[in-house]
Amino acid sequence: MRLPRLGVNIDHVATIRNARGENYPLPLRAALCAEKFGADSITIHLREDRRHIVDKDLKDIKKKLKIPLNLEIAPTKEMLKISLKHKPDFVCIVPEKRSEVTTEGGLNLKKNSSLIRRIIKELKKKDIRTSLFIEPNIADIKISKNIEADCIEIHTGKFCNLFNKKKNIKKEYNKIKKSVDFANKLGLEVHAGHGITFSSGKILSKIKGIKEFNIGHFLIGESVFIGLKSSIRKFKNILKK
Ligand code: PXP
Repeated sequence: MRLPRLGVNIDHVATIRNARGENYPLPLRAALCAEKFGADSITIHLREDRRHIVDKDLKDIKKKLKIPLNLEIAPTKEMLKISLKHKPDFVCIVPEKRSEVTTEGGLNLKKNSSLIRRIIKELKKKDIRTSLFIEPNIADIKISKNIEADCIEIHTGKFCNLFNKKKNIKKEYNKIKKSVDFANKLGLEVHAGHGITFSSGKILSKIKGIKEFNIGHFLIGESVFIGLKSSIRKFKNILKK
């Protein structure tokens, strides 16, 4: 069986850059280094408020990167237009609220399914792989299949949060496992992401059927201490097990 892929999210390199309004550290440089160090893809989230990644980062990274680029977008007309223009290899549709610190939960598919279906259709016409960021629940997996997404990405934030606080993770772990099995049965490719550290990644990697992990905040933070190369290598080793 193929090992899960590691998508490296470099949004927070842009966060550091933007904190000073300088032109460094450059997300493009981080993307190219991550590529060299073994990342299987690069993820960037072009938020509507451009708080970290900005349009020029997307343009520059798309031009130079050889591994697939995974663009996270909110389900809006503006973001669809940008995606169709720059043609990243993958698009992951995520919910977005301006006041949130990070993507706090999965998409509300019950409310937005017709809009998201239309966005998926347009992206697929350009051969862009589509993914939906959802909570680990059966109802949202069924809708994802129904509106013809290629993949789902399971929001692991709740699990990681419980794990970090040393609380009981069993219920959330089982929910994720059940969701992974169910989605695989429906023929959806399954990814996972949000809040993953070396320790929580070790546990999540035991769930068979997750094809891709997208990891950012912890990985970039850890790079301050052990370097980007070691952080990526360490995650790749963890995902192997
Ligand atoms: N996957 C998705 C869909 C996300 O929105 C994010 C956060 O931007 C991540 C993965 C990565 O989460 P983290 O930065 O907590 O590792």
